[in-house]
Amino acid sequence: MRIISTKNYNEASARAADLIAAQILVKPDSVLGLATGSTPIGTYKELVKKYNNSELSFSEVSTINLDEYVGLGHDDEQSYYHFMMENLHNKTDIDKNNVYLPNGLAENIDDECIRYEELAEDLGIDIQLLGIGLNGHVGFNEPSDFIENYTYKVELTQSTIEANKRFFKKAEDVPKEAITMGIGTIMRAKKLVLLITGENKAEILDQALFGPITPQVPASLIRMHPDLTVIADNPALKLVSKII
Ligand code: PGA
Repeated sequence: MRIISTKNYNEASARAADLIAAQILVKPDSVLGLATGSTPIGTYKELVKKYNNSELSFSEVSTINLDEYVGLGHDDEQSYYHFMMENLHNKTDIDKNNVYLPNGLAENIDDECIRYEELAEDLGIDIQLLGIGLNGHVGFNEPSDFIENYTYKVELTQSTIEANKRFFKKAEDVPKEAITMGIGTIMRAKKLVLLITGENKAEILDQALFGPITPQVPASLIRMHPDLTVIADNPALKLVSKII
Protein backbone atom coordinates (compact mmCIF):
# COMPACT_ATOMS: atom_id res chain seq x y z
CA MET A 1 0.00 0.00 0.00
CA ARG A 2 1.27 3.45 -0.92
CA ILE A 3 -0.21 6.48 0.80
CA ILE A 4 -0.16 9.85 -0.90
CA SER A 5 -1.04 12.63 1.52
CA THR A 6 -2.31 15.94 0.21
CA LYS A 7 -3.14 19.28 1.75
CA ASN A 8 -6.77 19.29 0.83
CA TYR A 9 -9.58 17.88 -1.32
CA ASN A 10 -8.57 19.72 -4.48
CA GLU A 11 -5.02 18.45 -4.34
CA ALA A 12 -6.26 14.90 -3.67
CA SER A 13 -8.57 15.16 -6.69
CA ALA A 14 -5.72 16.37 -8.88
CA ARG A 15 -3.48 13.49 -7.80
CA ALA A 16 -6.19 10.90 -8.46
CA ALA A 17 -6.83 12.40 -11.89
CA ASP A 18 -3.09 12.27 -12.61
CA LEU A 19 -3.00 8.54 -11.87
CA ILE A 20 -5.99 7.87 -14.12
CA ALA A 21 -4.60 10.10 -16.88
CA ALA A 22 -1.24 8.32 -16.69
CA GLN A 23 -3.04 5.00 -17.10
CA ILE A 24 -4.84 6.26 -20.23
CA LEU A 25 -1.65 7.73 -21.70
CA VAL A 26 0.20 4.46 -21.28
CA LYS A 27 -2.73 2.38 -22.56
CA PRO A 28 -5.29 4.42 -24.55
CA ASP A 29 -7.84 1.57 -24.50
CA SER A 30 -7.71 1.23 -20.72
CA VAL A 31 -10.65 -0.08 -18.74
CA LEU A 32 -11.38 2.32 -15.89
CA GLY A 33 -13.34 1.13 -12.87
CA LEU A 34 -15.24 4.19 -11.65
CA ALA A 35 -17.04 5.24 -8.50
CA THR A 36 -19.81 7.65 -7.55
CA GLY A 37 -20.45 9.72 -4.41
CA SER A 38 -19.27 13.19 -3.58
CA THR A 39 -15.58 12.26 -3.22
CA PRO A 40 -14.70 11.53 -6.89
CA ILE A 41 -16.48 14.60 -8.31
CA GLY A 42 -13.28 16.68 -8.11
CA THR A 43 -11.31 13.91 -9.83
CA TYR A 44 -13.80 13.86 -12.70
CA LYS A 45 -13.59 17.67 -12.97
CA GLU A 46 -9.81 17.41 -13.27
CA LEU A 47 -10.11 14.71 -15.94
CA VAL A 48 -12.53 16.87 -17.92
CA LYS A 49 -10.06 19.75 -17.62
CA LYS A 50 -7.30 17.54 -19.04
CA TYR A 51 -9.62 16.51 -21.88
CA ASN A 52 -10.51 20.14 -22.63
CA ASN A 53 -6.81 21.02 -22.68
CA SER A 54 -6.26 18.22 -25.23
CA GLU A 55 -3.99 16.41 -22.77
CA LEU A 56 -6.20 13.34 -22.81
CA SER A 57 -8.63 11.45 -25.01
CA PHE A 58 -11.21 8.94 -23.83
CA SER A 59 -12.05 7.78 -27.35
CA GLU A 60 -10.70 4.26 -26.80
CA VAL A 61 -11.43 4.04 -23.07
CA SER A 62 -14.06 1.77 -21.50
CA THR A 63 -15.49 2.37 -18.06
CA ILE A 64 -17.29 0.09 -15.66
CA ASN A 65 -18.82 1.34 -12.43
CA LEU A 66 -18.88 -0.28 -9.03
CA ASP A 67 -22.58 -0.18 -8.37
CA GLU A 68 -26.11 1.04 -9.07
CA TYR A 69 -29.31 1.35 -7.07
CA VAL A 70 -31.97 -1.28 -7.71
CA GLY A 71 -35.12 0.33 -9.13
CA LEU A 72 -33.56 3.44 -10.68
CA GLY A 73 -33.31 3.75 -14.46
CA HIS A 74 -30.93 5.80 -16.62
CA ASP A 75 -33.27 8.79 -16.67
CA ASP A 76 -33.55 8.98 -12.91
CA GLU A 77 -31.47 11.88 -11.66
CA GLN A 78 -30.37 9.87 -8.63
CA SER A 79 -29.15 6.92 -10.67
CA TYR A 80 -25.44 6.38 -10.83
CA TYR A 81 -25.75 6.20 -14.61
CA HIS A 82 -27.04 9.77 -14.58
CA PHE A 83 -24.30 10.82 -12.16
CA MET A 84 -21.58 9.44 -14.44
CA MET A 85 -23.03 11.10 -17.53
CA GLU A 86 -23.35 14.47 -15.79
CA ASN A 87 -19.97 14.46 -14.08
CA LEU A 88 -17.81 12.84 -16.73
CA HIS A 89 -19.06 11.06 -19.80
CA ASN A 90 -21.13 13.87 -21.35
CA LYS A 91 -18.04 16.07 -21.11
CA THR A 92 -15.48 13.88 -22.88
CA ASP A 93 -15.15 12.07 -26.20
CA ILE A 94 -15.86 8.63 -24.70
CA ASP A 95 -17.93 6.27 -26.85
CA LYS A 96 -21.06 5.76 -24.72
CA ASN A 97 -21.23 2.16 -25.97
CA ASN A 98 -18.15 1.58 -23.84
CA VAL A 99 -19.75 2.88 -20.62
CA TYR A 100 -21.04 0.16 -18.32
CA LEU A 101 -23.08 0.26 -15.12
CA PRO A 102 -25.37 -2.38 -13.63
CA ASN A 103 -28.95 -2.18 -14.88
CA GLY A 104 -30.99 -1.27 -11.81
CA LEU A 105 -34.20 -1.95 -13.73
CA ALA A 106 -33.31 -5.47 -14.85
CA GLU A 107 -36.26 -7.83 -14.59
CA ASN A 108 -34.16 -10.44 -12.90
CA ILE A 109 -31.57 -8.81 -10.63
CA ASP A 110 -29.75 -12.07 -9.91
CA ASP A 111 -29.23 -12.65 -13.64
CA GLU A 112 -28.08 -9.06 -13.99
CA CYS A 113 -25.47 -9.62 -11.27
CA ILE A 114 -24.11 -12.65 -13.15
CA ARG A 115 -24.06 -10.72 -16.44
CA TYR A 116 -22.24 -7.81 -14.81
CA GLU A 117 -19.67 -10.03 -13.13
CA GLU A 118 -18.90 -11.71 -16.47
CA LEU A 119 -18.63 -8.31 -18.11
CA ALA A 120 -16.12 -7.12 -15.48
CA GLU A 121 -14.11 -10.26 -16.01
CA ASP A 122 -14.19 -9.99 -19.82
CA LEU A 123 -13.19 -6.33 -19.80
CA GLY A 124 -10.46 -6.69 -17.16
CA ILE A 125 -10.26 -3.55 -15.04
CA ASP A 126 -6.91 -1.75 -15.36
CA ILE A 127 -7.44 0.77 -12.58
CA GLN A 128 -10.31 0.96 -10.09
CA LEU A 129 -11.14 4.21 -8.32
CA LEU A 130 -12.76 3.76 -4.91
CA GLY A 131 -14.30 5.94 -2.25
CA ILE A 132 -15.09 4.84 1.27
CA GLY A 133 -18.35 5.11 3.19
CA LEU A 134 -18.50 6.31 6.78
CA ASN A 135 -19.09 2.69 7.81
CA GLY A 136 -16.13 1.47 5.75
CA HIS A 137 -18.04 0.27 2.73
CA VAL A 138 -16.41 0.15 -0.70
CA GLY A 139 -18.81 0.07 -3.62
CA PHE A 140 -21.88 -1.02 -1.69
CA ASN A 141 -20.07 -3.78 0.19
CA GLU A 142 -21.48 -3.07 3.60
CA PRO A 143 -19.95 -4.31 6.89
CA SER A 144 -20.68 -8.02 7.04
CA ASP A 145 -19.52 -11.40 8.33
CA PHE A 146 -18.80 -12.49 4.77
CA ILE A 147 -16.56 -11.47 1.90
CA GLU A 148 -18.52 -11.50 -1.36
CA ASN A 149 -16.47 -12.68 -4.29
CA TYR A 150 -18.78 -11.65 -7.13
CA THR A 151 -21.27 -8.95 -8.10
CA TYR A 152 -24.40 -9.31 -5.96
CA LYS A 153 -27.57 -7.64 -4.75
CA VAL A 154 -27.12 -5.98 -1.38
CA GLU A 155 -29.52 -4.55 1.20
CA LEU A 156 -28.23 -1.11 2.11
CA THR A 157 -27.58 -0.45 5.79
CA GLN A 158 -29.37 2.30 7.69
CA SER A 159 -26.03 4.14 7.94
CA THR A 160 -25.64 4.21 4.16
CA ILE A 161 -29.27 5.25 3.64
CA GLU A 162 -28.72 8.06 6.16
CA ALA A 163 -25.47 9.13 4.48
CA ASN A 164 -27.01 9.12 0.99
CA LYS A 165 -30.33 10.78 1.78
CA ARG A 166 -28.67 14.16 1.19
CA PHE A 167 -28.87 13.41 -2.54
CA PHE A 168 -32.62 12.67 -2.42
CA LYS A 169 -35.66 14.79 -1.61
CA LYS A 170 -36.48 12.63 1.40
CA ALA A 171 -34.93 9.65 3.19
CA GLU A 172 -37.82 7.39 2.09
CA ASP A 173 -36.78 7.94 -1.52
CA VAL A 174 -33.36 6.30 -1.04
CA PRO A 175 -33.52 2.82 -2.57
CA LYS A 176 -33.08 0.00 -0.07
CA GLU A 177 -31.13 -2.27 -2.40
CA ALA A 178 -28.27 -1.99 -4.84
CA ILE A 179 -26.24 -4.10 -7.24
CA THR A 180 -22.56 -3.93 -6.36
CA MET A 181 -19.33 -5.52 -7.44
CA GLY A 182 -18.17 -7.86 -4.69
CA ILE A 183 -14.90 -7.37 -2.85
CA GLY A 184 -13.56 -10.19 -5.03
CA THR A 185 -14.51 -8.31 -8.22
CA ILE A 186 -12.71 -5.22 -6.91
CA MET A 187 -9.63 -7.21 -5.87
CA ARG A 188 -9.31 -8.59 -9.41
CA ALA A 189 -8.69 -5.08 -10.81
CA LYS A 190 -5.02 -4.63 -11.68
CA LYS A 191 -4.63 -1.41 -9.67
CA LEU A 192 -6.72 0.18 -6.93
CA VAL A 193 -6.86 3.86 -6.02
CA LEU A 194 -8.70 4.66 -2.79
CA LEU A 195 -9.58 8.30 -2.34
CA ILE A 196 -10.37 9.49 1.20
CA THR A 197 -10.99 13.12 2.01
CA GLY A 198 -12.49 15.19 4.80
CA GLU A 199 -12.34 15.16 8.55
CA ASN A 200 -15.53 13.11 8.81
CA LYS A 201 -13.60 10.20 7.24
CA ALA A 202 -10.68 10.40 9.72
CA GLU A 203 -11.94 7.67 12.00
CA ILE A 204 -12.85 5.20 9.27
CA LEU A 205 -9.56 5.91 7.48
CA ASP A 206 -7.69 4.94 10.64
CA GLN A 207 -9.71 1.73 11.01
CA ALA A 208 -9.53 0.79 7.33
CA LEU A 209 -5.80 1.37 6.90
CA PHE A 210 -4.43 0.50 10.33
CA GLY A 211 -7.08 -1.61 12.09
CA PRO A 212 -7.75 -5.33 11.71
CA ILE A 213 -8.41 -6.66 8.21
CA THR A 214 -12.03 -7.75 8.47
CA PRO A 215 -15.23 -7.79 6.39
CA GLN A 216 -16.73 -5.69 9.20
CA VAL A 217 -14.63 -2.88 7.72
CA PRO A 218 -14.83 -3.77 4.01
CA ALA A 219 -12.22 -1.17 2.97
CA SER A 220 -9.65 -2.90 5.21
CA LEU A 221 -9.80 -5.94 2.90
CA ILE A 222 -8.33 -4.08 -0.04
CA ARG A 223 -5.06 -3.63 1.87
CA MET A 224 -4.35 -7.16 0.66
CA HIS A 225 -4.29 -5.93 -2.95
CA PRO A 226 -0.73 -5.90 -4.37
CA ASP A 227 -1.15 -2.51 -6.07
CA LEU A 228 -3.14 -0.19 -3.83
CA THR A 229 -2.58 3.57 -3.77
CA VAL A 230 -4.42 5.53 -1.09
CA ILE A 231 -4.80 9.26 -1.70
CA ALA A 232 -5.89 11.03 1.45
CA ASP A 233 -6.00 14.66 2.46
CA ASN A 234 -4.70 16.01 5.76
CA PRO A 235 -8.15 16.36 7.38
CA ALA A 236 -8.82 12.65 6.70
CA LEU A 237 -5.36 11.76 7.99
CA LYS A 238 -5.91 13.67 11.22
CA LEU A 239 -5.76 10.61 13.48
CA VAL A 240 -2.79 9.06 11.73
CA SER A 241 0.52 9.84 13.35
CA LYS A 242 2.22 6.60 12.34
CA ILE A 243 3.82 6.28 8.98
CA ILE A 244 3.31 9.54 7.19
P1 PGA B 1 -18.99 9.96 -0.46
O1 PGA B 1 -19.40 8.45 -0.52
O2 PGA B 1 -17.88 10.13 -1.44
O3 PGA B 1 -20.21 10.71 -0.87
O4 PGA B 1 -18.55 10.23 0.94
C1 PGA B 1 -18.40 7.50 -0.54
C2 PGA B 1 -19.01 6.12 -0.54
O5 PGA B 1 -20.12 5.96 0.02
O6 PGA B 1 -18.38 5.20 -1.08
